[in-house]
Amino acid sequence: MKFFLDTANIKDIREGQSMGVLDGVTTNPSLVAKEGQPFKDTIIEICNLVNGPVSVEVTATDLNGMLEQGRNYAKWHRNVVVKFPTTPEGVKACKTVSQEGIRVNMTLCFSATQALIVAKAGATYVSPFVGRLDDISTNGMTLVREIVQIYKNYDFPTQVLAASLRHPMHIVDAALAGAHVGTMPFKVLEMMFHHPLTDVGLEKFAQDWEKANLKNLEKAMK
Ligand code: E4P
Repeated sequence: MKFFLDTANIKDIREGQSMGVLDGVTTNPSLVAKEGQPFKDTIIEICNLVNGPVSVEVTATDLNGMLEQGRNYAKWHRNVVVKFPTTPEGVKACKTVSQEGIRVNMTLCFSATQALIVAKAGATYVSPFVGRLDDISTNGMTLVREIVQIYKNYDFPTQVLAASLRHPMHIVDAALAGAHVGTMPFKVLEMMFHHPLTDVGLEKFAQDWEKANLKNLEKAMK
């Protein structure tokens, strides 16, 4: 399973990169706006930091606008993956630019039928939004399982990018479902490293080591 960071925060991306397990980044207009930095500069900085795909979302909603923005973003850096919304216009844009060799991440996917359609349109990634379905009392992970199964049934090469993941159990369940990628906020990546028994075990090893050294010292002094 690939780990992507779902952020446009440069400090978090640097930190994630230093952990040695980061495979890519996803951004969206809300995440970029939150950082308050110029859009293009931010994206290029992220692309230069990360050795992997960086999803950049269009803001246009009409076909021509999406095509124009998507083709433009793709020229910014080889790591750019263009993100289109899963709407009829977005699907048309996906089909067109995928045929031109531009990688596409179809975002805001909330149903198996939408996922089936974007795979047929040649998307490189589909992003089912798990947390946002959970938010409306619908099991988001069921959708991830369905998409993984459907893509397997027909050998679609589109990768399932589980998105809107809010806590470590979302990552575990997405991995169990066979999602190719999980994109997560930095705090979730950090949480995944920790276990209280690791801390307790480490403390005990240090204490035992200390005790043994003290004993050896006492023996040597006799
Ligand atoms: C994915 O690409 C989206 O940016 C993201 O996962 C949305 O997450 P949210 O529902 O927590 O905002």
